[in-house]
Amino acid sequence: MKNIYLNVYKSNLANLRKAKKSVENNDVISIPTETVYGLAGNAYSEISVKKIFKLKKRPKYNPLILHYVSLNKLREDAELNIPFIKLYKSLCPGPITFILNKKKKSKISKTANSRKKTIAIRFPKHKVARSLLKIINFPLAAPSANIFSKLSPTSAWDVVDEFNGKVKIILDGGPCKIGLESTILDLTTRPTILRQGSITKKKIEKILKKKVFLKKKITQIKSPGQLSFHYSPGIPLLINKKLPKKNGAFITFGKQYKNKKNYFNLSQKGNLNEAANNLYKIMRKIKKLKYQSINVCSIPNEGIGCAINDRLKKASFK
Ligand code: TXA
Ligand code: MG
Repeated sequence: MKNIYLNVYKSNLANLRKAKKSVENNDVISIPTETVYGLAGNAYSEISVKKIFKLKKRPKYNPLILHYVSLNKLREDAELNIPFIKLYKSLCPGPITFILNKKKKSKISKTANSRKKTIAIRFPKHKVARSLLKIINFPLAAPSANIFSKLSPTSAWDVVDEFNGKVKIILDGGPCKIGLESTILDLTTRPTILRQGSITKKKIEKILKKKVFLKKKITQIKSPGQLSFHYSPGIPLLINKKLPKKNGAFITFGKQYKNKKNYFNLSQKGNLNEAANNLYKIMRKIKKLKYQSINVCSIPNEGIGCAINDRLKKASFK
């Protein structure tokens, strides 16, 4: 019988070399990062980048994040500014993505950043992602390794589930430590958070010693004739609820909630980091169990709780 997990590789040196060869041949692989798993390819190669868009079924106008291991390579591609250097020094490598102006002479594929003047870049902290980036000669374009508008994967097995053999090498780096996508900060204008994550507005303000803005409006990405769902578990989801719907699943938080068959606690001890780490895992589990709806209790809107609420709001968007 065919081993369905054949494409999952232990992250040892031999397999890192295999992965290196693969991305050098313009193929697309999956890599672990501390936030979520990514679908990675050579950011300088139009061929690789087009493969990523195709696999993900991602609209061409939605640019990818570029992953670097150090400033050396980034200097060729982006205009660095003072706030960036400050944040880089205290937060990188780590779960934060910066929007910077792209250099004219940069070799980044035009498709990767949807022909914009800016690029999104980040320095992942995960050992495996860093080890691979160190032995290749280009940045990796890597969006989250999920089909467009679906839940981001937080383990190698989630990537297997999502792509069903279409991604030939999935480097297994264990479950993601954070489990929610990176914070995105636009530094081409007054510092503005475009997507919330585990690095909070407060933390960034403390480092920059100035006010950071939060882009409130949810940009609804439209494809011809239909609205797309973001971070969607694929079934109706309602937030700030006290009880589940009849026969529905209930996502809870804290010790006040009992253990019932259809109750899924993000963190019994009321820890928001643990809750963030469990969010996508629990949504996937609920879907696999074939529940037809999800109600979610209210989650404290502080620290990483803001990012959890942001994802839940988007998942509940109709
Ligand atoms: O944690 C993460 O950031 C993960 C891991 C794999 O690194 N990656 C990730 O990538 O979440 P993705 O492609 O799923 O989300 C990238 C987001 C998109 O919402 C995209 O619109 C935005 O970054 N983005 C990319 N380039 C941009 C740009 N030049 N200006 C504004 N937003 C940009
Ligand atoms: Mg994504």
